[in-house]
Amino acid sequence: MSKTIKVGVISCSGMAQLHMKAVRDNAQAELYMICDTNAEQLEKVAALFGVQRTCTDYRQMLADPEVDAVIIVTPDQTHREISVAALEAGKHVLCEKPMALTLEDCRAMTAAAAKASTKMMIGQICRYTPGFLKAKALIDRGEIGELFFVETEYAHDYAKLAGLSAWRLDPLRHGFLGGGCHAVDLARWIAGNPTEVMAYSNHKMLKDWPTDDCTIAIMKFPNDVIGKVFVSTGCKRDYTMRSVFYGSKGTIITDNTSPCMTVYKDGLGNGESLFEGLPQTHAIPVKYPLDINNHNTYGEFNEFLDCIVNDKPIRTTALEGAYTVSVSLAAVESSKTGRPVAPDYDF
Ligand SMILES: NC(=O)c1ccc[n+]([C@@H]2O[C@H](COP(=O)([O-])OP(=O)(O)OC[C@H]3O[C@@H](n4cnc5c(N)ncnc54)[C@H](O)[C@@H]3O)[C@@H](O)[C@H]2O)c1
Repeated sequence: MSKTIKVGVISCSGMAQLHMKAVRDNAQAELYMICDTNAEQLEKVAALFGVQRTCTDYRQMLADPEVDAVIIVTPDQTHREISVAALEAGKHVLCEKPMALTLEDCRAMTAAAAKASTKMMIGQICRYTPGFLKAKALIDRGEIGELFFVETEYAHDYAKLAGLSAWRLDPLRHGFLGGGCHAVDLARWIAGNPTEVMAYSNHKMLKDWPTDDCTIAIMKFPNDVIGKVFVSTGCKRDYTMRSVFYGSKGTIITDNTSPCMTVYKDGLGNGESLFEGLPQTHAIPVKYPLDINNHNTYGEFNEFLDCIVNDKPIRTTALEGAYTVSVSLAAVESSKTGRPVAPDYDF
């Protein structure tokens, strides 16, 4: 029986509690300590999860030699300071997205991760969403042939979200980076690192927010694939990350809020099935059932733990997180200058 990994969670927000559930329910992990600068929230969540050890200063958690790993769910602006300190203290780190708001902060974090003997993962949770995992597997297996166009989207009406904290109104936290990094990361995961980004944006919905709230970025990916990432944080519709992947032999339409995905596949008709138990008999679109699970902290944490326990490589490394920030910032810059921008991958 291998050792139980003792985990500390820094923040007691709603999102942090989703991480706590994943830790609590993993047989090889222990939710050992939690931290929040808000003592009242800390006490409430400690009681909810039955956690004995609490602190209001994350440095107290890092000083405890019993803590093996930390999950950082604090405001974006604090990710650099806390994750660098955690890596330097010898802890494994799972840090929420976006990794940081500037390339300078990303560089400090990638440097600390490269130096550390522990693991660092960035919480790009879309890579654990059932519809996107299935799409990625089908594409990698060649089921839709050669990819030529990818379309990803993050449409989320922030005006409807209750209790959004003030740190989100930082002018550095452009909507295309804050929430939009999910759609950027998905496009990068499927199609690779874009070499050039051109974007347009406007500011018609969230008038009291400091940045534009609607951005469309077109991108050139490796292997002559082109793509489009659309982000709106003021749109009047239900939350979605509707995404379409076009290949020479088929097309996949999927998102993170529907109970099914649609696959068009050219030339099917021989009873071949992409999903066990569901025969696909013709080339018309077929809808396949999915779990929605758009914040799959269980999938994310279970993989993090497996990488720690079995010394496996992390998929969403610090470098991956930094590349996603860099592409997002390239789009923001392009939308301001009106010129195409080549993202910086020098970390
Ligand atoms: N993966 C996702 O889909 C997803 C969803 C929501 C939020 N996030 C990310 O999670 C992070 C937190 O977002 P949120 O919505 O939970 O924010 P929030 O403002 O709701 O909660 C942040 C919590 O952190 C605490 N805090 C602030 N500074 C702290 C510090 N130095 N030490 C300890 N506690 C501190 C606050 O008191 C608060 O309880 C952000 O990076 C955000 O982008 C990711």
